Amino acid sequence: METIRGRMSHDIGLIELSERLAGRENIALDLGTGDGRFVRCMAERQKDRFFIGVDACRENLRANSLKKLPNAMFIIASAQALPQELNGLASYISINFPWGSLLESLASNDPSLISGLLSVTRPCATMDIHLNADALVAAGWSLESGANQIERVLNDVGWKTKSRSCMDAHTLRSIPTTWAKRLAFGRDPRAIRLSLRRE
Ligand SMILES: C[S@@+](CC[C@H](N)C(=O)[O-])C[C@H]1O[C@@H](n2cnc3c(N)ncnc32)[C@H](O)[C@@H]1O
Repeated sequence: METIRGRMSHDIGLIELSERLAGRENIALDLGTGDGRFVRCMAERQKDRFFIGVDACRENLRANSLKKLPNAMFIIASAQALPQELNGLASYISINFPWGSLLESLASNDPSLISGLLSVTRPCATMDIHLNADALVAAGWSLESGANQIERVLNDVGWKTKSRSCMDAHTLRSIPTTWAKRLAFGRDPRAIRLSLRRE
């Protein structure tokens, strides 16, 4: 699979990945990581966790992936075709403010994404999804109806809802992603957080 640091990409296989993750029990995957700010901030805060940011687009990752952290890496991949090397690794998944095909695949129960989420996670893994109103409206949903649909899709395949909450500009500011910040200061700072556990 292709990893990226700054402008340099590097293919790593299972053996090199296992070496990077040696002794790590707690592995978090951030799907649609964007510029990777969330992974960089969280890896600095939670040193006992290894964070892997995944995005299909490499350009935005240049700056944050340059910082050398012992517990973070970035992978260029489509969320619908996650590398097999990630299978069974993640104890936690975050999907922060998905748009485009990532959002569509969640809402349409696209098997390439939904079964991929099951493949890369461990039993009892947890997942947090932040959905924002603008992205759902652009995809033809309201915030509530889109969140209901995505919650239903995930519940049906065994992700049980632990909590669901509405977010506003104030709560958005507490999430260390570039998009959360942009939304918090934008014209429609409404979002929903879904927290789920794999049963
Ligand atoms: C609105 S941005 C959010 C970025 C970041 N999570 C944040 O909160 O700042 C959505 C991200 O999802 C990524 N994305 C969309 N569809 C994707 C897919 N099918 N596979 C991987 N990444 C995808 C985009 O490239 C973009 O970086």
